Amino acid sequence: MLARAVTHALVGLDARRVEVEAHVQSGLPSFRIVGLADRACQEARERVRSGIAAAELEFPEGRVTVNLAPAELRKEGSGFDLPIALALLAASRQVPRDRLQGHAAVGELALDGRLRRVGGVLAVAEAARRHGLERILCPRDSAQEATLAGIEPVPVRHLADAVAYLRGEHQPEPVPPPARGETPALADLADVRGQERARRALEIAAAGGHNLLLGGPPGTGKTMLARRLPGILPPLDEEAALEVTRIHSVAGLLPTDQPLLEHPPFRAPHHSASTAAIVGGGPGIRPGEASLAHRGVLLLDELAEFARPSLEALRQPLEDGYVSVARAAGRAVFPARFQLVGTMNLCPCGARGDPLVECTCSAQRLARYRDKLSRALLDRFDLVLAVPRARAEELAAPRAEPSAAVRARVVAARERLRAGAPERVPEADALLSNAVERLPLSGRGRARVARVAGTIAALAAADSVLPEHVAEALAYRAPQELAA
Ligand SMILES: Nc1ncnc2c1ncn2[C@@H]1O[C@H](COP(=O)(O)OP(=O)(O)O)[C@@H](O)[C@H]1O
Ligand SMILES: [Mg+2]
Ligand SMILES: [Zn+2]
Repeated sequence: MLARAVTHALVGLDARRVEVEAHVQSGLPSFRIVGLADRACQEARERVRSGIAAAELEFPEGRVTVNLAPAELRKEGSGFDLPIALALLAASRQVPRDRLQGHAAVGELALDGRLRRVGGVLAVAEAARRHGLERILCPRDSAQEATLAGIEPVPVRHLADAVAYLRGEHQPEPVPPPARGETPALADLADVRGQERARRALEIAAAGGHNLLLGGPPGTGKTMLARRLPGILPPLDEEAALEVTRIHSVAGLLPTDQPLLEHPPFRAPHHSASTAAIVGGGPGIRPGEASLAHRGVLLLDELAEFARPSLEALRQPLEDGYVSVARAAGRAVFPARFQLVGTMNLCPCGARGDPLVECTCSAQRLARYRDKLSRALLDRFDLVLAVPRARAEELAAPRAEPSAAVRARVVAARERLRAGAPERVPEADALLSNAVERLPLSGRGRARVARVAGTIAALAAADSVLPEHVAEALAYRAPQELAA
């Protein structure tokens, strides 16, 4: 007896249709899964056997073969458990075969037959809808996520529920639409005293989506400032929210209670993170931090402590906005268009830039430190500035301007920029050309200064880019500040 269930296998952020064929023949009892299944997928045998028993159903007698087709597509993960179990139950006439074929199914089985959430349900549900399916059987905790795909989820808590539903004996409970519009509680700029110049640079970075590097001695508030960038960014539009959600879903990082991520993500990997963790890759298909930060902020706190290969690996996403990860079955492409923020000390001992402490670094050690940040990487920071120690009276000041007020200006500037970047007046153009020779600036550097100047003009609600806007942009373009 042969039966079929439909599911979709993740390929990067996409999913491809997979037919789960269950074949039961007479013979000595056996259970095989064929069709390029990885280990987690092979282990489905134990979970499915145990789950079927827990649901008080019969595991088919005889030679049982499950084929995952097409065979050339690698099947990863535990999301095949549910369709495998249902195909087996259909092949042994315990659920109606025809009804099963009208549904997609995805989910991991626990040994007691309950369904567990898996990553990537949004992508799987989207693929199911594209293939004309109207309903997807999925774990209860994934149901809200599936609704985002415009397909009707059939939420199931236990394999027994799925079976009862397919037999027409059980109506699934309705799924409330995902909660919307909640802003996560973020650290506020009101906590940062003084540091006017760094606050200004943060605002410009937020308005234009520019990359920002903060250098300076320890304890001056660099990390504090960097962590407050997400709080002054506008929420994501609908398309971006779905895109970000898809990535976090595949990584298995979606919160159950809020499946649609509407705020720009913020990722701050530790400097000991591996290159694979940062850009993606390794076994499995997980997107790395660069992709988890897509349309949001990637903070590299203590930039110089990161391994050089990790920093170099970020050049591709910084340039192209995506990472392409080698896998056993070819390549997977993950979007990775993020805003990069780095912080660093000015030297290995950290004293450089601090008038109160003497730097003890040898010239050689200092040179190695600077060497690590290749020109190519430094060149990608649009705004570079030193954050000095705040003066005592600044630190004693009452609370500073809160993030909400800054965000309002950022939103207004972004709207202006969307309508088109303002043009430079001739004097502003001359100033820029002059700087290209004086600094000197690379072609990329020039383009970056021009963009930052445009953002500054937009923040000022100016109709064109004036020399003062170019001058301010150029002032943040001074890596020699970090070499002082
Ligand atoms: N400008 C500031 N306003 C308020 N607190 C500050 C400021 N600068 C530093 N601090 C305090 O010092 C601590 C260390 O700051 P941090 O951002 O970690 O420094 P850095 O990253 O530059 O080494 C913060 O947690 C905060 O309590
Ligand atoms: Mg710090
Ligand atoms: Zn030093």
